Amino acid sequence: MKRIHILIVAILSIILFQGCAVKSNVQKREVTLKKSIPQGGMWIPSLLKGMNEAEMTLLGSKLTADDIYNVNKSSLKDAIGHFNGGCTSEVISNQGLILTNHHCGFGQIQSHSSLENDYLKNGFWAKSFKDELPNKDLFVEFIVCIDDVTNQILNGISDDMNEKTKKQIINKNIEKAKKNAKKEDWQLTKVKSFYKGNQYFLFVTEKFEDVRLVGAPPSSIGKFGSDTDNWVFPRHTGDFSLFRIYADENNRPAKYSENNKPYKPKHYLPVSLDGVSEDDFTMVFGFPGRTNEYLPAVAIKHITEEFNPSNIAIREKALKVIDSYMKKDDAIRIKYASKQARIANYWKKWIGENQGIKKSNAIAKKQEFEQEFVKQIDKKGLNPEYKKLLPKLEKLYKEYAPINIKRRNFIETFLVNNELLKMCFKIYQFQWGQIPESFSTDIVKHKNVLYNNLKSIHKNYDKNVDFEVFKAIMPLYTKNVDTSIYDTTILTDFAKIEKLFNYSSSVLESVDLIYKTLLADKAFQYAKPFIDEYYKEINPKFVEKNTEIESVLKQYMKAQMEAIPNARYFPDANSTLRVTYGKVKGYSPRDAVYYTPVSYLEGIIEKYIPNDYEFDVPEKLRDLYYAKDFGQYADKNGKMPVCFLGTNHTTGGNSGSPAIDANGNLIGLNFDRVWEGTMSDMNYDPEICRNIMVDIRYVLFIVDKYAGAKRLIDEMELVHPKK
Ligand code: ARG
Ligand code: ASP
Repeated sequence: MKRIHILIVAILSIILFQGCAVKSNVQKREVTLKKSIPQGGMWIPSLLKGMNEAEMTLLGSKLTADDIYNVNKSSLKDAIGHFNGGCTSEVISNQGLILTNHHCGFGQIQSHSSLENDYLKNGFWAKSFKDELPNKDLFVEFIVCIDDVTNQILNGISDDMNEKTKKQIINKNIEKAKKNAKKEDWQLTKVKSFYKGNQYFLFVTEKFEDVRLVGAPPSSIGKFGSDTDNWVFPRHTGDFSLFRIYADENNRPAKYSENNKPYKPKHYLPVSLDGVSEDDFTMVFGFPGRTNEYLPAVAIKHITEEFNPSNIAIREKALKVIDSYMKKDDAIRIKYASKQARIANYWKKWIGENQGIKKSNAIAKKQEFEQEFVKQIDKKGLNPEYKKLLPKLEKLYKEYAPINIKRRNFIETFLVNNELLKMCFKIYQFQWGQIPESFSTDIVKHKNVLYNNLKSIHKNYDKNVDFEVFKAIMPLYTKNVDTSIYDTTILTDFAKIEKLFNYSSSVLESVDLIYKTLLADKAFQYAKPFIDEYYKEINPKFVEKNTEIESVLKQYMKAQMEAIPNARYFPDANSTLRVTYGKVKGYSPRDAVYYTPVSYLEGIIEKYIPNDYEFDVPEKLRDLYYAKDFGQYADKNGKMPVCFLGTNHTTGGNSGSPAIDANGNLIGLNFDRVWEGTMSDMNYDPEICRNIMVDIRYVLFIVDKYAGAKRLIDEMELVHPKK
């Protein structure tokens, strides 16, 4: 029965999502409109009135658009912070306590860790405010207001201009709009493009730079299941960490200072102890990074058949080396933890994405949509130029594909996976910049930038690992593999680099020596022709094609909205604040398999493998489980929930986003998606795309019962909305 229901929903949602082009069976459509309320989409919080508010209400929400976003009084958006530009976090107490994922705070947790104080392994809990650990360069940014500035930004632009002129005018207009924006001195402004450059919004923000680490569970909880479970359900990861924002005496953003005080937020999220059941309304509020929902079929083909496979192949080789070293050496494990997680994450995502695109027939569906698009141009008497768009894209993508792969291979090899090559790249940028030309006042700055770049690579560097990675991946890039560069280069030895940079107190003398030495370095000499090719050929060609494609995609976006106006159009993610909503729901990834939406502590015990690097379980957690000592956090059947699934449309950047209930309370913490649904970045399908959240009660249980950090629980406002 369930299968049939899913099938019907799937077919009908295809119809709904693909623009309602099918006229037959009006009756049926009305029925499903009631049954399957449209889901999917990442919506701009200032524009929820109307359609979104109505859909949310149908799904069970009690929230108004004003509760979510309001510039005149505090609203939910005031509790949502962009965490370090890449993740999301939310304020959960009136003392600036914020919650995000363990994998979002991972770099900070790692940077405070050493073999003696291994917070990655053992967790960290500050006993009092003064034990909370400051973090260099970490920031949290809140949105004060959002304004549509499209007319200002596109002022002076006409269709017959070339792309370069357009860009210049747009950039000028952006600067002007930012300058004229109404804001307080300490606030910032930015302008972002939406709908592929058809719309522009201005954001006023507040950016807090004193953000301290408050608590993190051990990796055996916060990263439980590691790569094997990453992107997978059933899931049992307690993927959370806690930080605190500090502000100056006026409660405004300030650099770190001992005198700063815990931030008093405009809004913080109450925390619900009542949990979720299947079909409950959920909303995820955060900063999704990037999606590509309106690409032509030819682009999806390129991504799944060429782009993803070539990336997967390189990373697979690198990971094999890194993993084997991490398993046998604890110091290397700590050093490589962040890097390995980053490389492994998208490696696995791309594999899932490809499978999902295939399984959901995304390419064929796009092609059908495109046929309908063309039909509607005639039928509606739209601009006949629109008919040229798809053939243009077809041609452009053919030209773009090989150059995109080449460029990406360079990036994967020189900037993502091998670090000796990355150092050479930094040196290349240094000498390629202004240095030799001017020997100007910038020279000290340049020297320091390069030094800091090399230093930060060496912070977590191991020569042997890097050498093995080089041997594994370089043959995929070129036939000219020279392993002897590792014998003579000074770059793999930080002591030598330091000596070189500190050789003389005379800036000119020292820069001259640095310059000469590095240029003569064997590794640099080897890498230089490749980097030359990248800068002089690969990248310029890429930029040229990419600019052309973007310009056509902008027109195609507009044309789609005119030709098939009642499809579901939300702007692609662009690291700005968005709302997505849906329901708690299980899913069926393949025949005869159905995943119920909630996982429990039982599952952790089932997965437990003593001393395993992915599936070990701390003794204390096992004890709590066997004693059923769950405090006030168990569900009504006395079980301890761990994770749950929803139909919220999320992407990278949504990690750490709050899952919010129908009344605006915190019920969970978003951290992942299911593997079969990672293609949601190009093709959201409500049948199999699910986001994964940690149940907030598991977070509280770990903080309270496992870590004994009761002082943090006492700060929060715990509520029972279902009672
Ligand atoms: N897949 C999630 C996301 O994209 C979690 C990543 C955590 N990293 C990992 N390698 N387990 O960010
Ligand atoms: N894990 C992702 C993140 O870090 C979220 C996702 O891709 O679903 O933002």
